[in-house]
Amino acid sequence: DVVDVRSLTSKNLFTYDPGFVSTAACESKITFIDGAKGILLHRGYPIDQLAEKSDYLETCFLLLHGELPTAEEKEVFVNTIKNHTMVHEQLNHFFNGFRRDAHPMAIMCGVVGALSAFYHDSMDISNPEHRIISAHRLIAKIPTLAAMVYKYSMGQPFMYPRNDLNYSENFLHMMFNTPCEEKAISPVLSKAMDRIFLLHADHEQNASTSTVRLAGSTGANPFACIASGIAALWGPAHGGANEAVLNMLEEIGDVSNIDTFVAKAKDKEDPFRLMGFGHRVYKNFDPRAKVMKQTCDEVLAELGMENDPLLKIALKLEKIATEDEYFIKRGLYPNVDFYSGIILKAIGIPSEMFTVIFATGRTPGWIAHWNEMISNDYRIGRPRQLYTGSPKRDYPSK
Ligand code: ACO
Repeated sequence: DVVDVRSLTSKNLFTYDPGFVSTAACESKITFIDGAKGILLHRGYPIDQLAEKSDYLETCFLLLHGELPTAEEKEVFVNTIKNHTMVHEQLNHFFNGFRRDAHPMAIMCGVVGALSAFYHDSMDISNPEHRIISAHRLIAKIPTLAAMVYKYSMGQPFMYPRNDLNYSENFLHMMFNTPCEEKAISPVLSKAMDRIFLLHADHEQNASTSTVRLAGSTGANPFACIASGIAALWGPAHGGANEAVLNMLEEIGDVSNIDTFVAKAKDKEDPFRLMGFGHRVYKNFDPRAKVMKQTCDEVLAELGMENDPLLKIALKLEKIATEDEYFIKRGLYPNVDFYSGIILKAIGIPSEMFTVIFATGRTPGWIAHWNEMISNDYRIGRPRQLYTGSPKRDYPSK
């Protein structure tokens, strides 16, 4: 049920809804979620069907354009993205300004925002063609920048993208190959990478997407808007959770310590929470987590890591938390980040890069929402507040 409160402003009344738990900020045709039933649809298509039958770039097209592409449209789209994968050579110099031990998300906020300084030719936001070129540039260049961030932290040379590889193979190539050694990318790992990107592609008005919309509502350029989304995603309550899951598993250290950590998570005096558990919208199960768990099993089997100690802790934790009254009563189930962290670790991606991977996957969702907003009537986003500060008082006389 929806109550339209727009007329309240003319009566000088407004609603108070901290955290926007009951407030729709916009209309959207992109993604539908029913948290109670564990349903996630992109343009009407269930996420599990997309994960099984589609791939990441096709899902990007779907999010942006509203329909699945024909075979010809898909070929054109894939080639267009390939044409945009390189970043301006001058951007390479930006990296030297960052400390090597900088958090990858700190660098991502900077270098993605800096794309605005290079691609002026497509920044007339009132021009639909310009908006689509920006979308293509962002989807194509963000994985290149993400891999550069990793290479910079390792002190290794940047790898140029390869157009003979698919999107996820190319990403793993830019991450793990070197000019001295170019190994073939495992199809199981590239498929898993593609799934991780696809399962993160959009999730309606979450904190980072809402940030992108809010920034976009001021008329800010798309690269700046996406950089603001990356900043919002960084927090551990949102995209930072997959990194936090791995850190938590390492902190737990051994299956025998699990009970202590579960007790801490239940203790209201203790701020500790089980990372990777719970979701603002899904109070039954996260449909993405189901697919991610299956992918996790495939990757660990491919790499012969079924007995990985961290995985053992994760599986025991999952079992306890899904059987424990505290978690059941509050609808706290493993979310998508719980399994994606384990997969990424198995692939060899360090935990500081996890949120960067999330940002890469979420880019089409952010840009589709931005484009949807700009294509329709919109107003600058301007939340109100409930003022609880001091009443008017006079400045003390000296
Ligand atoms: N561990 C232990 N208890 C928890 C957890 C958790 N992970 N999450 C929520 N709870 C408890 C709260 O203490 C609260 O208990 P109470 O009712 O007794 O006070 C109850 O469950 C409801 O929690 P809220 O914080 O009100 O739920 P909200 O919807 O605001 O928060 C959130 C959702 C932020 C995801 C939360 O569950 C959390 O912090 N989870 C851990 C971080 C995480 O995994 N984030 C990833 C989210 S998914 C994504 O961004 C892709």
